[in-house]
Amino acid sequence: MTNHVTLTQFIIEQQRELPGVSGTFTSLLNDVVTACKKISHLVNRGDLVGVLGSAGSENVQGEVQKKLDIITHDIMVDALNWTGHLAGMASEEMDGIIRIPPQYPKGKYLALFDPLDGSSNIDVNLAVGTIFSILRCREGVEPELEDFLRKGAEQVCAGFVLYGPSTMMVLTTGHGVNGFTLDQDIGEFILTHPGMTIPDETCEFAINMSNRRFWEEPVRRYIDECLQGSEGIREKDFNMRWIASMVAEVYRILTRGGVFMYPYDLRDPSKAGRLRLMYEANPMAFIIEQAGGACSTGRERVLDIMPTGLHQRVPVILGSKNEVGRIVDYHKNEGAVEAV
Ligand code: F6P
Ligand code: MN
Repeated sequence: MTNHVTLTQFIIEQQRELPGVSGTFTSLLNDVVTACKKISHLVNRGDLVGVLGSAGSENVQGEVQKKLDIITHDIMVDALNWTGHLAGMASEEMDGIIRIPPQYPKGKYLALFDPLDGSSNIDVNLAVGTIFSILRCREGVEPELEDFLRKGAEQVCAGFVLYGPSTMMVLTTGHGVNGFTLDQDIGEFILTHPGMTIPDETCEFAINMSNRRFWEEPVRRYIDECLQGSEGIREKDFNMRWIASMVAEVYRILTRGGVFMYPYDLRDPSKAGRLRLMYEANPMAFIIEQAGGACSTGRERVLDIMPTGLHQRVPVILGSKNEVGRIVDYHKNEGAVEAV
């Protein structure tokens, strides 16, 4: 029988290499894994267990909530709030920070998550995911909002689970990126994609083209040049994909390269972008950089942004390093944008 490495074994062995590590982090990761296995099961069962469709409510950001948005939020909170590993949490589906109930011990980490990313895909049976970001908390304090508002560069761990044809977890603790496939028979994530890296060059882009008329000039210029293909300045043909699920787009980029953009657009000047910094852009930026790629707003490295709010939105341009660099260069002549 092949000796498969489980996610738990991998993390324990990786943590052993690091000085002063207590094992709490490994246990916290196991809590996240438990929650994601439950979510994977429900997503897979779909209408058989009555979890599809709208919940008839809106989240704090005015987006229509699916039943699964709420169910997956509850699964994450219920799996993480009692174990003593966290000092607090934040979720896309909850306006304020989520405190640990007083009857439970508090740990030294903070978890931020998007429990069901790409949830508009759920009713059409396409890929969705869970994204999470782990920060260290000051010890012995009841965390307040300020404790969560830290630069992405301070994350100790980031990951996502893609509920696709297979359920995959992709993880970084700042020592590269590794991918694990859920073996449904034994209920364990198995290391299947060690040391994931992104090629510097690409011929594939992902963007919601229907927003083209709202984009800024640098993004239009980049995409128009891609579309000109071998007859244009890029002298090669480009392919396009849009899955409308960031987890799936990022996973594709980690496996075959590419560039993904949800750029600033002029539809609603009160929104600096579509994606949320704390539980979408930051964890993905950490993973992408650890895999050798880059992630920028067009004007600033995402991991360097000093957050101002839990649900703050930012423009996101991520993927193959040279392509992101090119788009950032196109922004340099453009000046700053007054949006927040
Ligand atoms: O969470 C936001 C999100 O669902 C991302 O996963 C995805 O990339 C994007 O929104 C899809 O946006 P649109 O609806 O414009 O295609
Ligand atoms: Mn999302």
